[in-house]
Amino acid sequence: MSDRKSPTDAAGPNPVGAISRSRFRFHRTLLASACRAAILAGTAVASTALQAAEPPDTDITLAPEPYRYCVVCHGVELMGNHAVDAPRLAGLPAWYLSRQMTAFREGWRGTHPDDVNGMEMRPQATVLSPEQVDAAVQFAASVPEQPHQVAPGRVNGDPVRGETLYQACAACHGDAGEGNEALLSPPLAGQSDWYMVTQLRHFRSGARGAASGDTQGAIMRASALALPDDQAVVDVVAYINTLNTAQPQRGETAMKKTAAAAALAAGLTGAAASAEVTRYPLPNSDFPIAQAVEISAGTTIVYHSGMVPRPANPDATRYTREFWGDTETQAMSVFSRLEESLKAKGLSFGDVVKMQVYLVGVPELNGAMDFDGFMNAYRRYFGSDDQPNLPARSAFQVAGLAAPGMLVEVEVVLARPE
Ligand code: HEC
Ligand code: HEC
Repeated sequence: MSDRKSPTDAAGPNPVGAISRSRFRFHRTLLASACRAAILAGTAVASTALQAAEPPDTDITLAPEPYRYCVVCHGVELMGNHAVDAPRLAGLPAWYLSRQMTAFREGWRGTHPDDVNGMEMRPQATVLSPEQVDAAVQFAASVPEQPHQVAPGRVNGDPVRGETLYQACAACHGDAGEGNEALLSPPLAGQSDWYMVTQLRHFRSGARGAASGDTQGAIMRASALALPDDQAVVDVVAYINTLNTAQPQRGETAMKKTAAAAALAAGLTGAAASAEVTRYPLPNSDFPIAQAVEISAGTTIVYHSGMVPRPANPDATRYTREFWGDTETQAMSVFSRLEESLKAKGLSFGDVVKMQVYLVGVPELNGAMDFDGFMNAYRRYFGSDDQPNLPARSAFQVAGLAAPGMLVEVEVVLARPE
């Protein structure tokens, strides 16, 4: 995956110590969530927890209550935090959590030079006494899965190919990715997809699963090595994403908002339509559009009219550049208007499957369209961490739009989530 984002990315490669320090500073802002998760989990929170919420940057790992610090990295309600590469722990069973704590303590995980994220985790496990590890594991295992907190899928693979590949995984991880205690194979459904991609790559390279003593890791490593190529890693994870019924990428969030409308629609058509949207990534490119989007029969399609900008400065002389703003400003306005309109219909940018973009040329670029200016606005809504779903898209330069000075018009087609 090329979309790893950490607070340290901008600073380039860092020694691990430096990464940890800057991340801890970042984590401090998340400390309040620790208490919230503990309360949700029904765990007694010492009354000092809040007062202790401002530890110095350096000795955070020495804190007496181990579970508080798990939440700091692993996110609100332990649902994972991509910003610090910490996976979801909520919903993982105690036997697996406990085994992984052992793996970190034994150095099976978090010692290989390529396993930078494991190195972030390892000291969290080694600093604790065995009793504290048990307490932390019991805490993590008691935090229920929070379906509403599941981050949208980020992986842009081919779930159809992934389904075929997953047949080999199901023997241990279960048909529905539910895991299998007898085989010490963890649940996969609902796990953060970016994390699974990294783990599979690490199993393949030997950064995980190759250490002597790590018998379960070695078993999994053999399966990972049986995947034919790196694309297979992404494809199988794209399929695992579909096993999680709470995956918002599949339209869960919007569905809740429009439950009444959806029920009505199902009643009217007499059959519950199932929205299957498959997005084919652009080969060998991270440009944020899809090569193609496939929609199964029975999906409700919504055609949205072209949207033009609001004036950036309504007091300026009409139709001037100052009145409308430049291409980027106009595009931002178009997207925010579109967002409002979609929201009102129980839809969001994640449901867009096709987009047409019309741009007018600008004098600064000798009459050519300001494609970069448009892309600056587009990237804020498509291909971001929050909204990874990419539409098939075309962009055209046109001679003019409805009013003089308008530079941007965007129309979209959407697949209404099931
Ligand atoms: C400094 C941030 C940080 C803190 C604090 C932290 N973790 Fe982690 N943890 C990580 C990262 C990053 C990973 C992913 C490692 C990898 O990619 O191999 C991880 C991985 C794990 C895993 C492996 C999950 C799996 O699916 O295999 C477990 C279990 C875990 N952490 C438990 C805990 C517990 C329990 C605590 C509290 C005692 C804790 N962590 C505190 C950063 C942290
Ligand atoms: C023979 C049984 C077996 C098969 C087949 C298998 N796995 Fe695993 N898998 C495991 C075990 C055992 C672990 C736990 C390893 C450990 O304890 O570190 C694991 C761990 C994982 C993890 C890491 C989960 C985490 O939370 O860190 C991922 C991801 C994974 N498997 C994906 C797959 C995929 C995808 C396939 C199919 C290509 C597959 N596995 C096939 C046994 C298996």
